[in-house]
Amino acid sequence: MTQTAPMSAMKSRMEEASKMKDEDKLYKRDGVLYSTILSPPETLDKLKDLQVREDDLLLVAYPKCGFNWMVAVLRKIMNASTGKNEAPPERSPLVEFLPPDAQQKLAEAPSQRLLGTHLHPDNMPASFFTKKPKILVVFRNPKDTLVSYFHFMNKNPVLPSAEPWDKFFSEFMAGEVPWGSYFDHALAWEKRLDDPNVMIVTYEDLKQNLSEGVKKVAEFFNFPLSEEQIRSIAGESTFSVMLENSQKSHGGFGQVFFRKGEVGDWKNHFTKDQSKQMDELFKNKLAGTKLGARLKYDLYCQ
Ligand code: A3P
Repeated sequence: MTQTAPMSAMKSRMEEASKMKDEDKLYKRDGVLYSTILSPPETLDKLKDLQVREDDLLLVAYPKCGFNWMVAVLRKIMNASTGKNEAPPERSPLVEFLPPDAQQKLAEAPSQRLLGTHLHPDNMPASFFTKKPKILVVFRNPKDTLVSYFHFMNKNPVLPSAEPWDKFFSEFMAGEVPWGSYFDHALAWEKRLDDPNVMIVTYEDLKQNLSEGVKKVAEFFNFPLSEEQIRSIAGESTFSVMLENSQKSHGGFGQVFFRKGEVGDWKNHFTKDQSKQMDELFKNKLAGTKLGARLKYDLYCQ
């Protein structure tokens, strides 16, 4: 089978990663760690000029909060509303993974584009905010995010191994993980919660009632969908259905992106002391904030 450019590019990135030492897989830029292979300095330099359009759909999530889940939901919403059944593009919508030539192609792509990022708002291209596109932000409780991140780093050859657990726990707490501190991201979005172009959804609310989540997201982006379409998209977007289709949708990476898909897996990983440390950090950083309340920490993290 002939490989498309992005597929072969991904394969060569994997090969590059397999020859690399763990300590070379990340580098620091303005105090934040990034993947040397996926987001090298020339990619991030060029990204500053990326021109977002007002009608782009922007999806933002701190890593492991459910980004790929929402990408799939958004693509289904777009397909349902246009009546087309467009195959998903081979490339991830994460803009910080697009090498300069792919950024150029993106600039020529027709509307309506779906763009995504794990970047902190301060490090996003300026046009993300000046052009005023709608931005959907996905958050997840920090304990499950940490657990998901730990397994992701262990399974993803582009990133260094996260082992041992205690070391990764401390790194996450200190924000010394790729894309930076969970809490810095959360505090940056807290300031933008009242922006009418920004909507925040949580992983836990989506798990609780996916149909309701699909409906909210479709309405936010002005896609009129029938109740039947909403039900059908939600049915196709459960963890078990997406896991079953993951080989087809994400190839070898299916197993990396779709792991357990549950709320509360942190209870199988955190020691009592680590749980207390996170409670303390959450209290210091997010207690009394609107986003903190939206995360329902007492319900999902106690
Ligand atoms: P776990 O590691 O806890 O299983 P991201 O896409 O941002 O990297 O997030 C990955 C997390 O979302 C993983 O969490 C993954 O299993 C979960 N996930 C992916 N699809 C999902 C779905 N349809 N329903 C629930 N969780 C899903």
